[in-house]
Amino acid sequence: MEKEMIIVLDFGGQYNQLIARRVRECNVYCEVHAYDLPLDKIKEMNPKGIILTGGPNSVYGEDSPRCTRELFELGIPVLGICYGSQLVSYILGGNVTSAPVSEYGKTEVTFDTSSVLFKNVSETSICWMSHTDYIESVPADFKIVAHTPVCPVAAMENPEKGLYAVQFHPEVVHTAEGMKMLSNFVFDICHCSGDWKMDSFVETAILQLREKIGTGKVLCALSGGVDSSVAAVLLAKAIGKQLTCVFVDHGLLRKDEGDEVESVFGPDGPYDLNFIRVNAQERFYEKLKGVEEPEQKRKIIGEEFIRVFEEEAKKIGAVDFLVQGTIYPDVIESGLGKSAVIKSHHNVGGLPDCVDFKEIVEPLRLLFKDEVRKAGRELGIPEYLVSRQPFPGPGLGIRIIGEVTPEKVRIVQDADFIYREEIAKAGIDKDLGQYFAAITNMRSVGVMGDERTYDYAIALRAVNTSDFMTAEAAQIPWEVLNVVTNRIVNEVKGVNRVLYDCTGKPPATIEFE
Ligand code: XMP
Repeated sequence: MEKEMIIVLDFGGQYNQLIARRVRECNVYCEVHAYDLPLDKIKEMNPKGIILTGGPNSVYGEDSPRCTRELFELGIPVLGICYGSQLVSYILGGNVTSAPVSEYGKTEVTFDTSSVLFKNVSETSICWMSHTDYIESVPADFKIVAHTPVCPVAAMENPEKGLYAVQFHPEVVHTAEGMKMLSNFVFDICHCSGDWKMDSFVETAILQLREKIGTGKVLCALSGGVDSSVAAVLLAKAIGKQLTCVFVDHGLLRKDEGDEVESVFGPDGPYDLNFIRVNAQERFYEKLKGVEEPEQKRKIIGEEFIRVFEEEAKKIGAVDFLVQGTIYPDVIESGLGKSAVIKSHHNVGGLPDCVDFKEIVEPLRLLFKDEVRKAGRELGIPEYLVSRQPFPGPGLGIRIIGEVTPEKVRIVQDADFIYREEIAKAGIDKDLGQYFAAITNMRSVGVMGDERTYDYAIALRAVNTSDFMTAEAAQIPWEVLNVVTNRIVNEVKGVNRVLYDCTGKPPATIEFE
């Protein structure tokens, strides 16, 4: 049976991955591709619908990314969003121009609810706008189906041709009825059946992995985090003992984490796989000596990681595939698509050319974090592992600002342990997306007993987020912060100050480096 799919063509906007996620929430499979995906390829993929995303450009800019008129003649429904909507208009003969008043933020939009796209949508509804250009006049055969006081064409359509365009962003939560609109597009316009679910993902992934791997030997980079654990169990189910999991303890893990991972995936754990633990702490500390620049640290940790795997692979002999638990946000933020590079993720960007494997296998590459957790549950992985908060590949290396030293590692491990313990005690761990301690590179003067101290400041971070692409600082009760602070300054040698990070993402990122 052919899998039904919606394709999102990426024009560089910041919410693009969210569109894919929303479509998948409708139980319809969705992939994001660069805007210049060749037409032949699109025809081959045979999608039920195409969504053109927003983007930072002006359609009439010389180097602006564009699609061709032929895209609109494939007989496949198209929904243009923001820049994508302006493209529909521009390419089909409408007029796009700089708006006299830019709209940004929550805006009241008036809808023509006879449009299928706006079925069951209120006549006026709050939508998220973010544009400086707008459609001034629509192409022939298009009808205006939404407007605001300053935007004459907030939506337009040509239902006969299956072409729709909205100036606002239905994918973001601030668009109150956006999900309804996307669902209308997917079901009533593209006629998807919505039968894609996580169990289909797991089943299909296992079959695909078996087919791809055959009798090959597979090496899995297991970190003990949610992503690589789910990838490892997926692989174990697909190919059993053909899989060897290598767990590199790079000395940048949370307190006692190495032993915990070993107890779950090692010979005494519930899974039937080959498990090797490599204690490479000293080797990583040596490489990181004197290095302060965050991107350089990330690259070093990533490359060293791969080196260690190469060595293990050689010991095991004839390894065909390397598995990694890369997930979708890693791919996007590493700039492998068309969006700007924010951070190079060590499990994507740091791969050297000389990896001694036939191929890299990334079975979770298209999943968002919460989708990975769903897949984990589907695979029967224990809840405590599945709901574990994410931990970055470069580990504490990016929670130690400036040079990494064994002393700073010890400090941040101990502080983080106390923080996590108190958060769990307060019963708020399940409410938080991610929380951890970082060690700043700042030392400041304090007083302890009658002594002057000159010690490090620890920064505590806790965020609420659903997809880790955006986040807001969590409001941890003051009493909890107070207990954590007292315990850290009393119990962790080398710390005399504790700060709380109140910044959201954007403008900050969740991790410090
Ligand atoms: P940022 O700091 O980019 O983090 O807002 C978003 C999410 O990604 C995690 N993160 C990483 N995960 N390799 C990973 O596997 C990395 O290099 C990496 N850097 C950040 C971070 O913990 C958060 O959950």
